[in-house]
Amino acid sequence: MRLSLRAQVIQESAIRKLDAFVAAAPEVHFHKMNIGQPDVETPTEVMAALAQADSPVLAYGPASGLQACRSAAAAFHAKTSPGLGPEHVVVTQGGSEALLFAFCALCDPGDEILVPEPYYTNYNGFATVAAAKVVPLRTRLDEGFRIPPNDVLDRYVTEKTRIFLFANPGNPTGAVYGESDLRRVAEWAKSRGLWLVADEVYRHIWFTQPPLSALELAGHEDHVIVVDSTSKTFSACGLRIGFLISRNLGFMERIERLGQARLGAQPRAQHAAIAALQLPESFYGNLRSVYRARVDAMMDALAEIPGVQYHRPEGAFYTMARLPVRDTEAFAKFLVTEFRDHSSGRPESLVVAPGPGFYASPSDGRDEIRLAAVKNPESVRRGVQLLGRALEQFRG
Ligand SMILES: Cc1ncc(COP(=O)(O)O)c(C=O)c1O
Repeated sequence: MRLSLRAQVIQESAIRKLDAFVAAAPEVHFHKMNIGQPDVETPTEVMAALAQADSPVLAYGPASGLQACRSAAAAFHAKTSPGLGPEHVVVTQGGSEALLFAFCALCDPGDEILVPEPYYTNYNGFATVAAAKVVPLRTRLDEGFRIPPNDVLDRYVTEKTRIFLFANPGNPTGAVYGESDLRRVAEWAKSRGLWLVADEVYRHIWFTQPPLSALELAGHEDHVIVVDSTSKTFSACGLRIGFLISRNLGFMERIERLGQARLGAQPRAQHAAIAALQLPESFYGNLRSVYRARVDAMMDALAEIPGVQYHRPEGAFYTMARLPVRDTEAFAKFLVTEFRDHSSGRPESLVVAPGPGFYASPSDGRDEIRLAAVKNPESVRRGVQLLGRALEQFRG
């Protein structure tokens, strides 16, 4: 039986594709630096709200989300972007569904989405489902992954370009775009008639300057769309609650229709999200110091390995590292299938995400890996130490 072209071409997650090898070696303690799944405890307020059943029926919720949840998300964003109300927010099943909805609402088949590369690998999957095409815009590790100047951006625009999409802070780069870059890109996108989709799921995890939300850009109300999520900010990846936010009410009305087609996000999870959104300000300072310690541990340990280049993240908790190897796919497989360190008395190894999965073409990023500093600093330090040892063996 024939499968659709979409099903045939949809890419395997670059982040998860080594999972089967890991599962096949249960005796090995793997330091999982391949996936952005923190071990930070979900706040007790969120857990309590999740546990509280207030009805004997697990009923459907409204298509765009519970009014209380939309209001809580609007109030949360209005702290930095005044004037937002519940009508500007749709509750989605994670930031993932918010991205999918945005692509579906903005792109016709064959339309193009311009994205600074390297980029979050699942953008490819969402684009495939929406029958759109991701067009990569190369940014470079040695230039801090900055967005190129407007004349370079112009070279990528065709009559099919609909969206300029970016993550700020970036995954996998850890780059934070400064205010002037953001304003410049927003102006440029507006002048070219493009939607600006800002993926801000890491916005509260920053180490130098707080990233400006695209919702704060005056004069861009009509073409800015923001994706937010409870996953990373509140260490609630399994809650599957995210938000699609825009002041363009025509766009929001279409998103309501998409929401009607799939029915609403899980109401109990939305109550838990409300509890998260109402946490005190002190929560965010603490969140940043937790990740700063993890990222610092990763940077210090990487500095010990000869021949490795990397970018110190300004936000999120990832780094793209360039290794002195030709094929990081082979190296990542070597880690999960062959490399075992016995120095602690039990076999240990490491899982990393090979670079090519973060590029549009599999021939790019072949000497890069993405590392996630999501576990406690000791585990992160140990993981990177194992990386150094594995590199010696692999190259030898
Ligand atoms: C940049 C980026 N956007 C979106 C998502 C999706 O997050 P969610 O768990 O909210 O679907 C992730 C998850 O890792 C991400 O890194």
